[in-house]
Amino acid sequence: MDGEHGLGATRFILNGAAVAVSAPAGERLSDTLRERLGARDVKIGCNAGDCGACSVLIDGQVVCSCLTPTHKAEGRRIETVGGLVASDPVAQALAGRFQDHGAAQCGFCTPGMVTASVALLREEPQPDEAAITRALGGVLCRCTGYRKIIDAVASVPAALAEADAPGHAGAAIRRLDGAQKLAGTEAFGDDVAPPGTLEILVIRSPFPRAAFAFGDLEAWRAGQDGIAAVLTAADVPGRNVFGVIPAFADQPAFAEGTARFRGEAVAAVVGTQATIRAFDPAGFPVTWTELPAVEVPATAEAPGAPLLHEGRAGNLMCKGFVACGDAGAALAAADVTVEGRFASGFVEHAYIEPEAGFAQVVDGRVEIHACTQAPVMDLESMEILLGMDRSRIRIVPTAVGGGFGSKLDISLQPYLALGALKTGRPVRMAYSRTESMQSTTKRHPSDIRLRLGATRDGILKGCDFRGTFNTGAYASWGPTVANRVPVHASGPYRIADYRAEARAIHTNCPPSGAFRGFGVPQAAIALESLLDELAAKLGIDPLELRLKNALTNGAPTVCGQVFPQGVGIRACLEALRPAWETERAAAAAFNRDTDGPLRRGVGLASGWYGCGNTSLPNPSTIKAGIRADGTIVLHQGAMDIGQGANTVITQLFATALGVPVASVTLIGPDTDLTPDAGKTSASRQTFVSGNAARLCGEALRAEVLRAANVSGAAALSVTAGAITVDDGASRHRLALDQLAADGDGFVLAASGHYDPPTKPLDANGQGEPYAQFGYAAQLVVAEVDTSLGTVCLKRIVAAHDVGLAVNPMLVEGQIQGGVAQGIGMALMEEYIPGRTENLHDYLIPTIGDVPPIEPIIIEEADAHGPFGAKGLGEHVLIPTAPAILNAISHAAGVRMTSVPVTPAKLAAALAGD
Ligand code: FES
Ligand code: FES
Repeated sequence: MDGEHGLGATRFILNGAAVAVSAPAGERLSDTLRERLGARDVKIGCNAGDCGACSVLIDGQVVCSCLTPTHKAEGRRIETVGGLVASDPVAQALAGRFQDHGAAQCGFCTPGMVTASVALLREEPQPDEAAITRALGGVLCRCTGYRKIIDAVASVPAALAEADAPGHAGAAIRRLDGAQKLAGTEAFGDDVAPPGTLEILVIRSPFPRAAFAFGDLEAWRAGQDGIAAVLTAADVPGRNVFGVIPAFADQPAFAEGTARFRGEAVAAVVGTQATIRAFDPAGFPVTWTELPAVEVPATAEAPGAPLLHEGRAGNLMCKGFVACGDAGAALAAADVTVEGRFASGFVEHAYIEPEAGFAQVVDGRVEIHACTQAPVMDLESMEILLGMDRSRIRIVPTAVGGGFGSKLDISLQPYLALGALKTGRPVRMAYSRTESMQSTTKRHPSDIRLRLGATRDGILKGCDFRGTFNTGAYASWGPTVANRVPVHASGPYRIADYRAEARAIHTNCPPSGAFRGFGVPQAAIALESLLDELAAKLGIDPLELRLKNALTNGAPTVCGQVFPQGVGIRACLEALRPAWETERAAAAAFNRDTDGPLRRGVGLASGWYGCGNTSLPNPSTIKAGIRADGTIVLHQGAMDIGQGANTVITQLFATALGVPVASVTLIGPDTDLTPDAGKTSASRQTFVSGNAARLCGEALRAEVLRAANVSGAAALSVTAGAITVDDGASRHRLALDQLAADGDGFVLAASGHYDPPTKPLDANGQGEPYAQFGYAAQLVVAEVDTSLGTVCLKRIVAAHDVGLAVNPMLVEGQIQGGVAQGIGMALMEEYIPGRTENLHDYLIPTIGDVPPIEPIIIEEADAHGPFGAKGLGEHVLIPTAPAILNAISHAAGVRMTSVPVTPAKLAAALAGD
């Protein structure tokens, strides 16, 4: 304990123990707790009072410890989640309920949520939903959509239900990594560095485009106390370039000569914690010359526009294209056509955990411990940047406090590795909220023109889609968006005559990358809005219009792909019918009987999403073994970023092996220990890594049966040192300690490998891009205040076809969390470089913004999925924004074509401006 007995120490009670700590005047209590007292269960998401992750109790009251100077704690009683869950019965009941309800996904907000809930429950043992919403209003969650958190808190007074089922695929078991999330012991990126570690601060461009030059960096460094090293592009020993798609890799770790977006890294300083935390970047010896910038595609494509990447013909990065039939002729012959232009802005991922990690050099190898969605891709990028053989690099992912696509790209990993290599000492860093928002990827802004035709009886005839996407300064996942959007822009509908083109344009903006849906949510806004316009023009009910055109088994997609089974969109739409009919009638009655400015509307929208990479190899490998003592070990390298991969993949493996989930010991992602399970993106882990886990379980089961000399059906039971195999006729005891162990210490071992069967797309986008799609339809009830332009969501029903719900509780959590992000996209979220770079100017939904969300799980089994399962992660967001726009249109009679629909925009539209 630092300064325990020093003069000027602040003394307080921390989780029941007296402490005394010396901290500089004004130090944040959150920093003192984490850095001087080791209380890393206190999380930091913003350092500005916006997120509530740092909530602690002081004398029983909830406070943001990031806004509390340490000296204010003098003589007070401080409780953090770790202390609460260790000793407080209310907190223990909450922890159990959070797990039973799946109320912690990534778990980064969980300490703040539990702490605030304890304060509530101490005061109000039986809180209703309104009280819970008020009490938790200051804590942001980006994963759950809040509904399961409300349910968990509300259910504390009830008795805990114990689950003792085997936990196989289909069971709503608690997540396997839940306990540490609730106790605050989950180690995120900023929680893992040893004490005394050097810290790094990145120097970033203040301009969207600027030339820059350094002064004498070494002389400057030598004159600074506490600065151990300065890093620039000159320190990159390999190639100063990275990118998630090798053919498009174009982003430097440090810009060289010219910065291409505001927030781009040009240098970094490495020093002691005290020096770095007090460091003012304005004192760094760099001079800037601001240059003309292009920040929207229209100016980036104008003649004479500055080129983002010298040597290219223009700022067009790439195009995607799909065509079948003759869209032009079909539209010309259609009885009815509708058309529109739709726009969306940058959307920030806003995971509550900013990027963080530490690195060290161990026996000549560099180890990077950081949050990531793609450890093996990180390894491949670092191999190029460091110019080192991959055998000398180890990626050890920490827990991830939300990713949603952005943590697929490397961020701080190069600075950590370079800092550790240059100083020879461990280094750590955590992005501030502002630098996280400035420098990491965003959802692509879109400008979409769409024409849609139909026969008089509502059969779609012709669709012409043209989308322009602002891909920012570097490629990131722009090519994926350009390729994926034309495949999906038809929605889950049969359209024989179709043309879709997507273009990705470079600008001097942060790179646009992967964000839950890869451009598909933007395309769905256009299509689903025009479907409602078409329905109105034809006088056909919007649900019936969608059902008339919904894909069925055996009907070709716009890529000419035919799925003979597993097409679940009709079931999703039909599942909405009861709510559709009652809510439309209720809305009509409300609008008829209500005076004043409130108008109620009901909207729906559909979505589909191909799971895995588009027509590209996409393999996962999972391995497992049994030790002589009977321990079953699963090496699974699929990153769990809150969605539940650790639990779901273990359930699938255990089902295939035929043992209870509880008997499996998990070894999580580590490039030294786990085979490549690919990246956590594109809704692929349940499908692809889940299949690898299934195959691994089946192969290990075959090994057990072979060793026991049993064939056919049999039940396995594993005890210390032995497996008993019961084939119905007799029981065979397999003594494990009689078997030889391999290099991993396994006496029996197996692996599973799966790569989805796809076929390349031809020049017209015809082929088999995905082995499976998942399907969705959502319904929104909204009230519009026509005097203010505000939208209040009353109810959302979300029907999702997941093939098999491997863990229904986690499925519901994914649905509710994705819907909440869709609400943000529809109504409030727009990242504007230089203006909304924190969580008070950039608004994400709070607990008060999310209405009841009722998931409906549809299980249209897929032949390729593990036990029929389909991916889900992206699907959950796709229909939400268009369903909200359709509800607004139904309520107020205005068609909004630009998201977010802020009150100002809606009021202007209502006023006819
Ligand atoms: Fe304190 Fe966000 S870290 S409120
Ligand atoms: Fe709330 Fe991830 S579970 S932020």
